[in-house]
Amino acid sequence: MRWPFAFGKYSAAWWKQRLGAPDRIAEFYPTPLCVARQMLELAETSPEDVVYDLGSGDGRIPILAAQEFGCRAVGIEVDDKLYRLSVARVAELELGNQVSFQRINFFEADFRPATVVTLYLLSVVNEQLQPRLGSHLRTGARIVSLDFPVPGWKPEDVRQVHSVNEVEYTLYLYRRRPLRLPVERPERRTANDADQASALSDRSGGQNLQPKV
Ligand SMILES: C[S@@+](CC[C@H](N)C(=O)[O-])C[C@H]1O[C@@H](n2cnc3c(N)ncnc32)[C@H](O)[C@@H]1O
Repeated sequence: MRWPFAFGKYSAAWWKQRLGAPDRIAEFYPTPLCVARQMLELAETSPEDVVYDLGSGDGRIPILAAQEFGCRAVGIEVDDKLYRLSVARVAELELGNQVSFQRINFFEADFRPATVVTLYLLSVVNEQLQPRLGSHLRTGARIVSLDFPVPGWKPEDVRQVHSVNEVEYTLYLYRRRPLRLPVERPERRTANDADQASALSDRSGGQNLQPKV
């Protein structure tokens, strides 16, 4: 079962009210495993990566990341039942040294260690997460969002993929670019500066006095 697209028109406040828990602003719609695999492939996930799934549901994406891509993974899930289910699955699969879960609101989570982030949330939620993703993620980190783009960001790649029962999904890949800091350039010297320099030089008897630029 996938997110019905019409749900995207409702605001975060509407979701919070609908889902009861004050922090919970999305329902659990699991990503089909073959689609999750393609999300991680699109992000070129490798054993050096740390995958964070924001709103991790039953934990399938962090578990898949560890099992098939050999990396560490963290799931952030606010729903207690889903969190406990995920923890139990990891214990059963003996993946405790690779996968962990945090029962926390993703707006309060620290995802600075992440090098790959997966999202299956509405665009209205992605929009609210965008400033935190921008400030927490390091250069080179990849974000793959399923079906819903991150407003305000230009995807590096957009792909149509299919689940085993031929349902079409869209993947949006974003990459954290290096911050471009403004370069400080010295002000250009004007003809007036040159005149002043020569006047100062005359007054100093030709000593090496330079106007500040
Ligand atoms: C559409 S499901 C995606 C589940 C999983 N990522 C997957 O792809 O299979 C969205 C998940 O986000 C969780 N969620 C909703 N609001 C949240 C919040 N504020 N903090 C953490 N998780 C949240 C829901 O409980 C739900 O499990």
